[in-house]
Amino acid sequence: MKYLIVGGSKGIGKACTELLLEQGNEVIVAARTNDEISHLPVEFVEVDVLGDVSTLEDFDDLNGLIYCPGSINLRPFNRFSEDEFKADFELNVMGAIKCIQTCLPALKKGNGSVVLFSTVAVQQGMAFHASVAASKGAIEGLTRSLASEFAPHVRVNAIAPSLTDTPLAEALLSNDKKREASEERHPLKRVGKAQDIASMAVHLVSENGSWITGQVIGVDGGMSRVR
Ligand SMILES: NC(=O)c1ccc[n+]([C@@H]2O[C@H](COP(=O)([O-])OP(=O)(O)OC[C@H]3O[C@@H](n4cnc5c(N)ncnc54)[C@H](OP(=O)(O)O)[C@@H]3O)[C@@H](O)[C@H]2O)c1
Repeated sequence: MKYLIVGGSKGIGKACTELLLEQGNEVIVAARTNDEISHLPVEFVEVDVLGDVSTLEDFDDLNGLIYCPGSINLRPFNRFSEDEFKADFELNVMGAIKCIQTCLPALKKGNGSVVLFSTVAVQQGMAFHASVAASKGAIEGLTRSLASEFAPHVRVNAIAPSLTDTPLAEALLSNDKKREASEERHPLKRVGKAQDIASMAVHLVSENGSWITGQVIGVDGGMSRVR
């Protein structure tokens, strides 16, 4: 099977890349850099999703697209500028929309599947998360809308992780005190590993997930549902 991982060079996307390769799949990674995956047997396409993504047009068929770029900018609501809200929306939502539009013919040809990323902070209100929650809320709506529009040919699902140890979350886990407080907040008493999230993403894009569409699945150590 052939999969495109946008943002497959670090964090959760890199874990998806590694797992798909382990399972014998062909993987194309699109990102701005490839230093962390230069040892892996993938095709690399240099893309900044904030700009032109037309180089992603070149694939004939795709069995799956996983879109990973995203942000966690946390601060009190009144301290976000209009431009900051828009910047989060561009990366989290418009980037995903552009990549899906560009790859849709290949996804249709490959009976493919799309996985997007939300956050636990959409279904569970969390202080200081207004910008990321607004953008990821849009991702959840997009997921269900496209799942309906593209069925039965292309499946669309999203994963809503809680705090996961990746470069994006570095500042939130930068010392023992912060890490322990985060672990304590989760019912399962640890933060996520990139592999926890990647195994769900790979399940969703593979044949194992072939009867799942329009879902937003929490992979969150119990954070969204369990007291
Ligand atoms: N980590 C968490 O705690 C957490 C929690 C909830 C939700 N999420 C969501 O899960 C998703 C994956 O998160 P992560 O923690 O794995 O993020 P990450 O560590 O920042 O990795 C993001 C990936 O996207 C690429 N990327 C970033 N900006 C890009 C751009 N403008 N153009 C092209 N590629 C770009 C990065 O590669 P380059 O830098 O090489 O371009 C990298 O491969 C995100 O949508 C995030 O919002 C994460």
